[in-house]
Order: sequence, then structure tokens, then C-alpha cells
Amino acid sequence: MKINLPTITAVLFLSAGLPGISAPATTPPASQTDELNKTCPISGRPANSSITSVYEGTKYAFADEACRTKFIDLRANSLYQKLGGKPAVDAAVESFYKKVLADIRIKHFFDDVNMDKQRRKQKEFLSAAFGGPTAYVGKDMRRAHANIPGLNESHFNAVAENLQKTLEELKLSKELIDQVMAIAASTKDDVLNRKPAAK
Ligand code: HEM
Repeated sequence: MKINLPTITAVLFLSAGLPGISAPATTPPASQTDELNKTCPISGRPANSSITSVYEGTKYAFADEACRTKFIDLRANSLYQKLGGKPAVDAAVESFYKKVLADIRIKHFFDDVNMDKQRRKQKEFLSAAFGGPTAYVGKDMRRAHANIPGLNESHFNAVAENLQKTLEELKLSKELIDQVMAIAASTKDDVLNRKPAAK
């Protein structure tokens, strides 16, 4: 995955205490998965099955107590959590693609795309970019957009506009919207497969 990590790290720590998207009332109860991870998500070392923490209904095992504490701190301070976690990101992506598919400037790009898969990949990508608990394992942004004929900056801006409108409709605070939009903007050079802009 190629996301602008400094940007993301910066926004993660700027976002404490801001109001998020409220979860839909129909959110199912969190369920716990049976398989415990064998590798510590913080250190990459072997996980100890007696040092665990539950986040969004999934139990995670860690190498030691310090890793467990770090994981809990990262989750609590993440933009992902401020937005409202999985139900909120899922709802935002659903609403976002409704707008994209109704936008005559860009909808043709998705004519032959499996939209169930696309929504799922976008949820995974954005969740990881916002500091959610699960790593993104899909194509990096350059590869994902390398073979899209005619894709240019005006299309990127149209996508960003739809994302911004979605977040505004969800009544997120300006601070949170700005952080999400900064993450989206950080993907621009990769999505358009161009050289990174000079700093
Ligand atoms: C904020 C900027 C963007 C992000 C974060 C983003 C994210 C993604 C992700 C996660 C995928 C799936 C990669 C995979 O298959 O593993 C994808 C694919 C795709 N995206 Fe984007 N994208 C962005 C901008 C755009 C723009 C501006 C367009 C066109 C208007 C676009 C059109 C597509 C298309 C057509 C695919 C390929 C679908 C396929 O071949 O299955 N994306 N994008």
C-alpha cells in the first residue's frame, strides 16, 4: 500500500475528541472471531494467546503487555475511531459510491467494474488509511489506477468533491472532514500515476 504515512500519522494525532458519524441503529452486535492471530500486530513477533484485547468484536493477541497498550492507544487516538469505526466508514463508502455513480463526469469509469468488490476494497483501504485495526492488502494506488484510460486531475477532483459532500451530509465536524480530505489528497499523485509534486 502506498499512502502518505507522514500525513496520516499527523492527522491521527490531531483528531482527539472530535464528534464522529453516529453508527446506524441497525448495526449488528459485534461478534468475536474464533481464530486468534499468531503474529503480534504491533511488533510482528509471535503473539502470546494470554495477552489479548478486543476491538470491534475481534480479539487480538500481542507479544507482550507493551504491545497491547500501544494497540489500545493507537485505536483510541485513530481518525477511524473518531469517525465512528466500521459502521461509519461502511456507511460513508456506500453513500460516496451512490454519488460517484450518479456523477456524469466520472460514472463511466465504473461501467465494467464489480461495484460490490469496489465498495469492499475502498472500505478496506480507507479503514487502514484512517488508522483502523486491519491492514490494507489490496493493490497499491498506482497499480489500481494504472490502466484507466483518460483518468486526469479533473476526475480526481470530482471524486474528492463527492467524498467531501458525503462527509458533510454525515454531519461530521469540519476538523474531521479536513483530515479525511487530506488523506484523500495524499493519494493524488499515485492515483494519477504521476511523479510526486515537488515539496
Ligand atoms: C481518493 C482517491 C482514490 C482512492 C483512495 C481510490 C481507491 C481505490 C481502491 C482501493 C481501488 C481497488 C484496488 C484493488 O482492486 O485492490 C480502486 C480501484 C479503482 N478506482 Fe479508485 N481511488 C481513488 C480515485 C479514483 C478516481 C479519481 C477514479 C476515476 C474517476 C477511480 C476509479 C477507479 C477504478 C475504475 C478502479 C478499478 C476497478 C477495477 O478495475 O476493478 N479511482 N480505487
